[in-house]
Amino acid sequence: MNFMVSLVAAGLLITTGSAFAQDAEAGAKIFRKCANCHEIGEKARNRVGPVLTGVVGRPAGSIEGFRYSKSMQALAATGHIWTEEEIFDWLANPTRFMRAKLDDPRAKAKMRFKLKDETARRDVIAYLATFQAADAAAGGATEAKTETTEMAEVAMAPAGAKGICIVNSAPAEHVFTVEAANGERKMQHLAPGKTLCIDSSGDGTVGVFLTEDALEGCSRLAKKDQPETLLHYYDFDRCLWVGNRN
Ligand code: HEC
Repeated sequence: MNFMVSLVAAGLLITTGSAFAQDAEAGAKIFRKCANCHEIGEKARNRVGPVLTGVVGRPAGSIEGFRYSKSMQALAATGHIWTEEEIFDWLANPTRFMRAKLDDPRAKAKMRFKLKDETARRDVIAYLATFQAADAAAGGATEAKTETTEMAEVAMAPAGAKGICIVNSAPAEHVFTVEAANGERKMQHLAPGKTLCIDSSGDGTVGVFLTEDALEGCSRLAKKDQPETLLHYYDFDRCLWVGNRN
């Protein structure tokens, strides 16, 4: 299974607002509850529940060899992706989630577990996401693996970051570009945790490159006043992003 491809295609959707501050370390403790049924990590196997390695950004019901419920198979058929927001809703009440998604009052999730507390849900999702990046790295840049596993928190754009912005939440310095709606462009080296913005009257583009004159890199459309966040730059056009969803 090529996680990297699906990650890039699906993108990663989490909310970067401060109300959703995440703590992967706290999440590790909460994950002990999940561990009654789920394994996560490189050598994880299916147990009562499917392997959760790389689950953020993964299509629902997609682990081979796991016997999903009929409802989960139906959800998978809709092309549902486990973004952070979707996992957040799922964990509160899996069966209620299924009924709403499938618009079927008889739908039922096989997961007999609920996590009501919102902070606990945010934290455990932050923890899941660390395996996301580590797993993707396993496909290529192996040295990236330890770096991303240690990166417990996603860097946030400073409050009031306006226009077209990009946040470097990757473990290394890279060259970033921001392009405004009128085509005006800025390019700058950003250390981890730093943000680059350009004034813009509308939506624009952000990008990341290995060097200032590298042709290979990643770029994506960016909404005005909604900073994009890079989680990891692997090489060429392989990048892991956090996107805002509204
Ligand atoms: C009592 C066992 C149990 C516990 C505890 C549990 N799960 Fe699950 N989980 C399952 C089962 C079973 C499924 C498959 C659901 C289906 O097929 O309807 C599942 C499915 C999932 C999925 C969808 C995976 C996919 O491949 O589509 C996610 C995400 C998930 N669980 C996350 C968690 C998290 C995070 C926790 C802890 C906060 C947790 N689960 C706790 C049993 C459990």
